[in-house]
Amino acid sequence: MIKIFDTTLRDGEQSPGFAMNIRQKLLLAKQLEKLGVDVIEAGFPNASPEDFESVRLIAETCQKVDVCALARCHEKDIEAAIHALKEAVNPRIHVFIATSDIHLRHKLKISRAEAIKKAVMGVHMARSFTSRVDFSPEDATRSDRGFLIDILTAVIEAGVDTINIPDTVGYMTPQEYGDLIGFLRKNVPGIDAMIIATHCHNDLGLAVANSLAGVMQGARQIECTINGIGERAGNASLEEIVMALQTRKDLYQVSTNVETTQLLATSHLLSQITGQKVQANKAIVGKNAFAHGAGIHQHGMISERSTYEIMKPEDVGFSSTQIFLSKHSGRHGLGHRLNELGIDLQPDKLDQVFIKFKALADKKKHIYDEDLILLSTEGEYQRKYELISVHVVSGTQGAKIQVSFRMGESVINVAAEDNGPITAVYKAIATHVQLPGMLTEFNIHACTPEQEALGLAYITWQEDEKTVWQGHGADTDSVMAAGYAFIDMLNSRDVRQKREDTRHLA
Ligand code: KIV
Ligand code: ZN
Repeated sequence: MIKIFDTTLRDGEQSPGFAMNIRQKLLLAKQLEKLGVDVIEAGFPNASPEDFESVRLIAETCQKVDVCALARCHEKDIEAAIHALKEAVNPRIHVFIATSDIHLRHKLKISRAEAIKKAVMGVHMARSFTSRVDFSPEDATRSDRGFLIDILTAVIEAGVDTINIPDTVGYMTPQEYGDLIGFLRKNVPGIDAMIIATHCHNDLGLAVANSLAGVMQGARQIECTINGIGERAGNASLEEIVMALQTRKDLYQVSTNVETTQLLATSHLLSQITGQKVQANKAIVGKNAFAHGAGIHQHGMISERSTYEIMKPEDVGFSSTQIFLSKHSGRHGLGHRLNELGIDLQPDKLDQVFIKFKALADKKKHIYDEDLILLSTEGEYQRKYELISVHVVSGTQGAKIQVSFRMGESVINVAAEDNGPITAVYKAIATHVQLPGMLTEFNIHACTPEQEALGLAYITWQEDEKTVWQGHGADTDSVMAAGYAFIDMLNSRDVRQKREDTRHLA
């Protein structure tokens, strides 16, 4: 069994752009507990009163996991950790001190002997409160191996139960990191009774590979973070570690307690809280992680999933594999998607639709289901909404807009105020058409280089937990482009609803 030690709320939260308030930290901690991690490193209580309070609150609330607090080998840090963890059912303290000569000389300005003394003091103090004590020799991977043996021997005697080996600066390659773990296991007296943990930073993009190399050499705990967030280039990504161990169980022969179907929800929660999206091609949780684009791949997937799929999307929380239709898609992929949408076409009709589909795909990057429905049922549905005009008065106090649009046969004129003109337009239209949900993604970029560049707006609207709509629009005026995108999204929704109604009646 591999223990998953999540440090999203500590190592992750301390990196720029990922700060969270107490309420957000608690929300994420509850989700981590649901995910089934073994340890939540909730923060560094002596860093600030807010850090203290969030560790205290998480310790009080999350009773099924070990709640861990970070502390340097300073009395004040360890006292704060103890106080913050008072109400924890399973309190854990993580003490650390730097051990590389670079850090000892330039940062701590102490000798190796003094570092050992401080480490032992820290462990004793933490141990007086809980038997769950982790020790980290910071910058272990650039430390002298002989000195690592000395300090680890001393802290094992002082009573730690877990030895963590940080690759603080992300300098290691998998072979070297695995070799270090193997070396310590062989040479540190008493280490057999310890859990050995990995903590790898991603400066060379090797954090996950290094952690897994550690597992191969006997590490049984992995410190990692959701979406791989953390100092600089981040930490080992929890979702990648867990799915690598699960998917390649034949190789690693270990399992974790993680409920993998919660991985996507946890990743999304973190993104929502911090406003930092994961890249589309991010392994496991990126929106393209299970989307197949090439025609050959789509054909293979439709015949037999294992041709191009090593994990089931459902296992990580996606609803299903996405056959993402684009100009690269083939007739097979198109027919399959139409079937899923309840549209069964005779081969000759499918051929005709395929020609139209290719023509559209040449012009349009994303082909949505609604486009397919329109193509294959041409003439059956009319666009219900059309943007007529937008009038904006905008300044430092916010924006006032008046928007005019067609809805069916009627022309609607509505007004709204908001912080900016685009959100005001959305507010006005959404209120009038009683559209539930919220805007979850908005992108606008210039698609021509001239000064009067055409802006391409792309939006995603989350109607409820399962329903997401997309739309896009283009104009030289960014507010108009955004307005067209919103109207496009409403038309997609309308087409889909009409289609669903027809299916129910049939
Ligand atoms: O990267 C690091 O060395 C750390 C320690 C505090 C474990 O985050
Ligand atoms: Zn770290």
